[in-house]
Amino acid sequence: MEKELQSILERAKLGAKAVATRADLEAFKARLVGPNGELTRLMKGMADVPKEEKPEVGRRLNEGKKELESLFSGLLEGIELNESAARLGPPVDPSLPSPDGGPGSQHPLAQVREEICSVFRKVGFSVVEGPEVETEYYCFDALNTPSDHPARDLQDTYYLPESARFGNVSKKETERYLLRTHTSSVQIRHMLKTPPPVRVISPGRCFRRDTADATHSANFHQIEGLYVDEDVSVKDLKALLDYFIRTLLGKDARTRFRPHFFPYTEPSFEVDFSSSHLEKLGTDWIEIAGCGIVHPAVFDAVGYDREKYSGFAFGMGIERIAMILFGIDDIRYFYQNDIRFLQQFAR
Ligand code: DAH
Repeated sequence: MEKELQSILERAKLGAKAVATRADLEAFKARLVGPNGELTRLMKGMADVPKEEKPEVGRRLNEGKKELESLFSGLLEGIELNESAARLGPPVDPSLPSPDGGPGSQHPLAQVREEICSVFRKVGFSVVEGPEVETEYYCFDALNTPSDHPARDLQDTYYLPESARFGNVSKKETERYLLRTHTSSVQIRHMLKTPPPVRVISPGRCFRRDTADATHSANFHQIEGLYVDEDVSVKDLKALLDYFIRTLLGKDARTRFRPHFFPYTEPSFEVDFSSSHLEKLGTDWIEIAGCGIVHPAVFDAVGYDREKYSGFAFGMGIERIAMILFGIDDIRYFYQNDIRFLQQFAR
């Protein structure tokens, strides 16, 4: 009996080497401990063992069975490891450089922002930035925007809770903080720091309460422009925007000014442009900017001499321009980070 047991165990150890799959393992187990298995047969032989030897033989058979069971579970573990390794593919060395490398590329909105900035840089504008969290003073009061203006409505604007106030950033301690609704706030920040003449543009992110659809997003980007010197007129403003739009969209592009109202400019205009880019959109004119001659009340707020200086300001949406340049019909694509969309603009 002992000899037979030893021989079964030895052969089992040898046979285990050939077990590679779950099916192999099942067949292997059946051969040893199945109803007609070798060990099962040996156990059935217990009936013929003399009574006094039974406890010892029984103990040995149980030991043998346990040995086989641990052999089976070791084999199963090995099979499971192989299975998961097959699922994961070849081993990865995390210390190696990423194989999919490449330097990546700029987001289409960043590309258009850079392009716009470079057009203005060529004619002497420098780029300044301001914070996205603003106070009502910079965003509205100093821009001659009264407290009953719709942009100051809680429904239109993201105000920060009382608890989020930090420091005394502006002149009024009691005012509220908000996510800036436009980049015009940077005009004020820049003029308070810099005596005239000034010639700056300021790109950045803005926020308004808006239900997202193909043309609206609660988060969007603008570029603000400000030019202050002696004897600045609407003619200079029109010339600059004509230059801008022709550089960006080609020689056939034209602008047109429509009278409008902004609290911080007088007179104020909305600017439309027309170019061959619009043919595919099936329209002649598209609005791209608001602008005007800086209101004297704004100069008063920043301590500029309203008699000596004049200036113009403008603001335009970066998304709008990117959509026209690239022929994109839904603003939401810009924010979804879908690689299939972004790759089309890689350069
Ligand atoms: N801030 C305006 C807006 O968000 C755009 C604008 C209009 C900016 C006139 C200006 C301006 O600087 O003079 O719609």
